[in-house]
Amino acid sequence: MIILGIETSCDETSVGLVDGDGFALANVVATQVDVHARYGGIVPEVASRQHVLDIRPVCEQAILESGIDWSDIDAVGVTYGPGLAGSLITGLNFSKALSSAIGVPLIGVNHLEGHVYGAWIRTQKNDLQTFQQYVGEKLIMCLIVSGGHTELVLLEDHGRFRLLGETRDDAAGEAFDKAARVLGLRYPGGPEIQRVAQNAPTIESLPRAWMKGTDDFSFSGLKTATLNRARSLGIYPQGNSLKEVDDTIIAGLAKAFQDSAVDVLVTKTVEAAVREDCAGIVLVGGVAANKALRETLVKKSPLPVGIPPFEFCTDNGAMIAMAGLINYRLGRRDQWDLDVTPNLRIGSVI
Ligand code: KG4
Ligand code: ZN
Repeated sequence: MIILGIETSCDETSVGLVDGDGFALANVVATQVDVHARYGGIVPEVASRQHVLDIRPVCEQAILESGIDWSDIDAVGVTYGPGLAGSLITGLNFSKALSSAIGVPLIGVNHLEGHVYGAWIRTQKNDLQTFQQYVGEKLIMCLIVSGGHTELVLLEDHGRFRLLGETRDDAAGEAFDKAARVLGLRYPGGPEIQRVAQNAPTIESLPRAWMKGTDDFSFSGLKTATLNRARSLGIYPQGNSLKEVDDTIIAGLAKAFQDSAVDVLVTKTVEAAVREDCAGIVLVGGVAANKALRETLVKKSPLPVGIPPFEFCTDNGAMIAMAGLINYRLGRRDQWDLDVTPNLRIGSVI
């Protein structure tokens, strides 16, 4: 059994393959980060055109790296939402053509479920397997944090998710990206904030939006507080003043921002997981690459924590192949009328 997964929902063109045991055979990613960096964010039109150029060579490279033949593929999984419409269409149309050419089923995958199942991909040394035995018997709390999403979701059984909470405004990754911009750091901002926050001095903390009584999040207040503090420290607006500001001041503010975002994400996730009597917590999505977030969650959680290796945290085809495998086993198939759903959600609000 071999499933091929295609991911083009945002600014990464990626194709991955997993076998029937969930081992990743290949995971090729063509990132457009450099293409969009000059604009300070993703330009949808540019993204979809780049996917058109990249999808075929990325797919061929994935087949080559996996060492399999096209005829070994049993199904094609593809992200059909949420994401940018033009980008999703590129991957979906390519997948339809591919599944038809090799005569295998097409399986539409929810990108957010894909992120969760990134934690199910087998590598030689990950310890996430302990979680897999619980599925269907115990609940698993999943925190999905990416550039476009911040969702707290309960995995009740394979393919069955319950949405507990989400962001009311900016996504966690979006907040990192916007704060980085205020600090004059490069896009994408998450890795940059992490980099400069290392060894930074501790300054007066920034506010935390607890959204008491809910499992929701909010990052717009933190974003505004960061902007206001940057102004008072002379970091923003950029221009002449930027040159005069000491790097340690920028680093201190980056750290204060990161501390606040991490504290809220970790505290609320742990509280919800304990309350729901979960067997463990899974942390996924691009922001799960953040070292402070990973370490703080592991430190503060009384439950086992599973975090996929870095390459399966940010957008990738292997996680879509993995989710495709789970859906294949659940008997789910899609037809040629499958359309993209840019606002697709995960689970249902309770
Ligand atoms: O999952 P992803 O690759 O794409 C989306 O589906 O959005 O997530 C990208 C987001 C960006 O906002 C990026 O700044 C953030 O993940 N990110 C990080 C780190 N690495 C990537 N945020 C904080 N710390 C990091 N180390
Ligand atoms: Zn994503």
